[in-house]
Amino acid sequence: MHYYIITGASRGLGKALAEEVLKQPDAHVLGVSRHATIEHPRYQHQPLDLSDIVAVENNLHKVFPARPDASALTLINNAAVLGDIGYLGGQPNEHFGFVFDVNLVAPAMLMNTFLSAYGGLGVPLTVLNISSGAAQRPVDGWGAYCASKAALDMLSQVAQKEQELRSSGVRIRSLAPGIVDTDMQEQIRGAETGQFSEVQRFVAHHAEGRLANPEQAAGRIAAWLAQGCPGPEVVLRIDELPG
Ligand SMILES: NC(=O)c1ccc[n+]([C@@H]2O[C@H](COP(=O)([O-])OP(=O)(O)OC[C@H]3O[C@@H](n4cnc5c(N)ncnc54)[C@H](OP(=O)(O)O)[C@@H]3O)[C@@H](O)[C@H]2O)c1
Repeated sequence: MHYYIITGASRGLGKALAEEVLKQPDAHVLGVSRHATIEHPRYQHQPLDLSDIVAVENNLHKVFPARPDASALTLINNAAVLGDIGYLGGQPNEHFGFVFDVNLVAPAMLMNTFLSAYGGLGVPLTVLNISSGAAQRPVDGWGAYCASKAALDMLSQVAQKEQELRSSGVRIRSLAPGIVDTDMQEQIRGAETGQFSEVQRFVAHHAEGRLANPEQAAGRIAAWLAQGCPGPEVVLRIDELPG
């Protein structure tokens, strides 16, 4: 059985990814999010609020149980939040902890535990962190989001370097999925111009039908995962994937 652990599998890109990999007859998906929306005989839901770091710590054993029959294991850290869009100077201080916990601290704990729980199994292991183009450029109003995704990119690079130094064969990638038609994009289009100068550009993207649908993006990502994420690049954009 190929076990996938996918955070944020209840909607958006994460749900599309879970449904896409479940098309593979040997795939089992454990979805981690607050809500459960997928019903499938090989889907298991683990309710968890990734902004509650104590709860994350206390539930790690349920997310990563012994998998003696695993032929491969893949962790997809997909869940993330933008948090309230707004400029530094006008944010409540707890905003930063919230965004960093969901987007960086919880994914780091999941990666760490995934590698320690399954590193000795001798089967292919892959970690895919879903990043963002916003990791690579400053976007006003998205400070915590940009910074958390930039940190996730670097954490992925460090982890991949460590695995290479150990010749473990573990693959770690951080992928920006492009602009995908999800609830997160709806939140972006609803921002006030004074809190986010690019809002009209995102409204136009949507109006002109330039958003990818989650199923298209998920199909492309799953096909690349199935090929073993070829190539040396750790931090990638979806338009750099083959196909
Ligand atoms: N959409 C885009 O254009 C775009 C662009 C660049 C990067 N991305 C990245 O792509 C990934 C997926 O984004 P999306 O657009 O699909 O987002 P979305 O539609 O807002 O879905 C977010 C997912 O994350 C989960 N989630 C949010 N807060 C959580 C929490 N506290 N605990 C547990 N799960 C939580 C949600 O599940 P529950 O509500 O059930 O908990 C949901 O399944 C994210 O990493 C995002 O940064 C998206």
